[in-house]
Amino acid sequence: QDAIDIAVIPGDGIGREVVAEGLKVLGAATGSTGPKVSTTDYDLGATRWLATGETLPDSVLEELRGHDAILLGAIGDPAVPSGVLERGILLPLRFALEHYVNLRPARLYPGVTSPLDVARVAPGGIDFVVVREGTEGPYVGNGGALRVGTPNEVATEVSVNTRFGIERVVRDAFARAQARPRKHLTLVHKHNVLTHAGHLWRRTVEEVGAEFPDVETAYQHVDAATIFLVTDPGRFDVVVTDNLFGDIITDIAAAIAGGIGLAASGNINPQRTTPSMFEPVHGSAPDIAGRGIADPTATILSVGMLLDHLGLADAARRVEAAVAADLADRGGASRSTSEVGDAIAARVG
Ligand code: IPM
Ligand code: MN
Repeated sequence: QDAIDIAVIPGDGIGREVVAEGLKVLGAATGSTGPKVSTTDYDLGATRWLATGETLPDSVLEELRGHDAILLGAIGDPAVPSGVLERGILLPLRFALEHYVNLRPARLYPGVTSPLDVARVAPGGIDFVVVREGTEGPYVGNGGALRVGTPNEVATEVSVNTRFGIERVVRDAFARAQARPRKHLTLVHKHNVLTHAGHLWRRTVEEVGAEFPDVETAYQHVDAATIFLVTDPGRFDVVVTDNLFGDIITDIAAAIAGGIGLAASGNINPQRTTPSMFEPVHGSAPDIAGRGIADPTATILSVGMLLDHLGLADAARRVEAAVAADLADRGGASRSTSEVGDAIAARVG
């Protein structure tokens, strides 16, 4: 590949600050010998909504489809009512672009402090990846409210689970497990209570698992999984779960692996018929926005995932190695957002 064409959605708050560092590292990783990188900025987010009332215009969505990948910072602002930008931008992107694999690695790098007991959790003791379903579950918005504002008000949020949707994400998770040394896959659900969806997930894992006889499978209820994520995270290798359980457990996963400032993610369409989108797991952090103190590491690791997805494995490994080296030397130093970006970019180059 001699050129890559990235759509950039810096978004709101610290999103803009961390994306600038992500692009700096992207430039360093592709350098003069790698593919030529071109970027196009899209001003989706709170500012646009506040000015125009627009979230994700159809014309913008169509333009986004033409790029090789999307890099997103963060979307959200206290001036916008809860749900408007989530339901108006982020989720429509994930749904329309068929990002059915929401990939969230959790890895404790040497030099990073976990809030867990360090004697039990040495570096390498946390190294798993959550394959979170990205297009279904309660996120589809199937529900409603009746008799709003009365004592008899009822609200429903229906979780949608299709065989098609589960099967495609489960097959992807098995393939990822097969490619890893431990070859272990844990299904996280709650089939003792969510019996309909739970049994469909369980049966699908059993059936697809027959295609991957060398992958060992396990099952955990989501409540138990939150215990083991804290007491014994080393048991996890690949975790597959639905959209909402995945949202929740990946915040725990980020916390145990050194915090949300390090957690990267990819919203991936493995079929590659649409651009995949890479973003830090964290939000726009309005409380620290504009001060140049946000940690850009999660975005930089997301750039690594983007490079990997585009087949630039060597550049991706160099980004990861540069981040690992920076983390190992970081100590308690407090550096600005751009100082961290500069340091990692220098190591990549
Ligand atoms: C995430 C976020 C989103 C989600 C919100 C902002 C819609 O929490 O990416 O984890 O729930 O998926
Ligand atoms: Mn979340």
